[in-house]
Amino acid sequence: MREKFDIIVACDLNRGIGKNGTLPWRLSKDLKYFRDLTSATPVPEVLNAVIMGRKTWESIPPAHRPLKGRINIVLSHHADYPMPEGHFVATSFDQALEMLIPAPVDRVFVIGGAEIYSQAMQHPGCGLLYLTEVRAAFDCDTFLPEYKQTFQLLSCSEVETESNVDFCFKVYQYNFPEYLLAE
Ligand SMILES: NC(=O)c1ccc[n+]([C@@H]2O[C@H](COP(=O)([O-])OP(=O)(O)OC[C@H]3O[C@@H](n4cnc5c(N)ncnc54)[C@H](OP(=O)(O)O)[C@@H]3O)[C@@H](O)[C@H]2O)c1
Repeated sequence: MREKFDIIVACDLNRGIGKNGTLPWRLSKDLKYFRDLTSATPVPEVLNAVIMGRKTWESIPPAHRPLKGRINIVLSHHADYPMPEGHFVATSFDQALEMLIPAPVDRVFVIGGAEIYSQAMQHPGCGLLYLTEVRAAFDCDTFLPEYKQTFQLLSCSEVETESNVDFCFKVYQYNFPEYLLAE
């Protein structure tokens, strides 16, 4: 099993992440942060991989998917879900990680949505949580699970502002609960 992946998410003060199948806000600096972080590799021949739920995949405008310069893996219970060449569907979270073992992949990022974050946040392979803290309360129907009990804050950027919305980039480290390690 590939041992490590990281999570990247933007959430508001109520841990809201989505509304009607899309993002509740538009923050171009956050989109750039997401693109830069998930795309950066030490050498151009090696790519990162992004793992996402089928609903998040469908929330990306067709012209912008697959997310370029990254191997896109979509979780769906339908193994025949169509994906572009070089990108893949997986029918379980572990299968998504396993199919990357032979690939020349540098980092693996879990990019949402809520169903996939929930599974990733209970997985022993979880490493860092890159969390954009959107310092406002938006109308949301999709939420990130509670994370502050299992993640420890490592760093926080300066607060930035865009469209009158304050936000900052935080990095947390996963502390896998010992009672789960014993299972
Ligand atoms: N703020 C952010 O950073 C952020 C990031 C990403 C997404 N979002 C938002 O989150 C919302 C979508 O989240 P969501 O929770 O509704 O959906 P989701 O997690 O993106 O996708 C759910 C789908 O993933 C598949 N799935 C889930 N677990 C699986 C498993 N173990 N094995 C196989 N397939 C599995 C199922 O697809 P099938 O039905 O095909 O079986 C399920 O319907 C949208 O509003 C989106 O904009 C926000």
